[in-house]
Amino acid sequence: VITIHTVEELRRECEQARMSGRTVGLVPTMGFFHAGHRSLMQAARAATDLVVVTLFVNPTQFGPNEDLAAYPRDLDRDSDAARDENVDVLFVPTVEEMYPEGAPLTTVHVDRLTTGLCGASRPVHFDGVTTVVAKLFSMVGRCSAYFGRKDFQQLAVIQQMTRDLNLPVDVVGCPLVREPDGVAMSSRNAYLEPEEREAARVLSESLRAVADAVVGGERDTATVEGIVRERVGREPRVALEYAEVRDARTLVPRTELDGTVVLALAAAVGRARLLDNVVLTIRGSHVDVDLGVRTGGRGTPAVP
Ligand code: PAF
Repeated sequence: VITIHTVEELRRECEQARMSGRTVGLVPTMGFFHAGHRSLMQAARAATDLVVVTLFVNPTQFGPNEDLAAYPRDLDRDSDAARDENVDVLFVPTVEEMYPEGAPLTTVHVDRLTTGLCGASRPVHFDGVTTVVAKLFSMVGRCSAYFGRKDFQQLAVIQQMTRDLNLPVDVVGCPLVREPDGVAMSSRNAYLEPEEREAARVLSESLRAVADAVVGGERDTATVEGIVRERVGREPRVALEYAEVRDARTLVPRTELDGTVVLALAAAVGRARLLDNVVLTIRGSHVDVDLGVRTGGRGTPAVP
């Protein structure tokens, strides 16, 4: 892996690869890699020739009272992980390199999909995400870009932006990756005290209960949202922010369960704000449940 710091080097690496007939795979990250990030690198490695991982804790997607300063960072460990995953290029820009004129006057805003769910409590977040991802897409050029489904709303918003702006990028959604006990992998799990980490299990357990209810024939949105509220409500260390059923593509609220829907949730556990979701595809009495994959222990994703 080569580590580069400038936009010019990034453009050169990607252009040279394409000129010699190689495809480019992009994995945008904020670092502090876990098995979820590694699974994105593996997907890029399997499908493309030049794998570029970007590592940038993007200040514009954090609100004034959020965890920008505390966000976990460990460049040495991340460089080792990138090398282990056979990444070709690790792009680690400074804030000045990404935003040389300070806060940009031009931003990218995706309407509607950004108003509810996480957008309700994080009003500046998605404009920061779409603006930095559009910049990365512009720097890298034609490529496939890999994002995890844990950040389900983020993925839907980036897919919408890419379609709306005809960006030459194939956005690939990859499975949510769980710890062996079911907790969704997140860099923010590093904030959890041991008893909070234990309590966080209730989130994935409540989603499993929802999946079981829907497989068992439940089709009422309010009832399944109630299952999550009731289960999580029994765990005093976890404060549920939302648990909502939405259309998986448009994120429009759904009253009845059919087609492909997501039940997405966010919750505060200690200092961490955690996300999780289950995607359900319902055709008559048939239900496909997508709860992602569990790691088999040493960071290797395995089917549940
Ligand atoms: O998901 C993340 O880590 C970030 O939101 C992203 C997509 C790298 C943009 O900063």
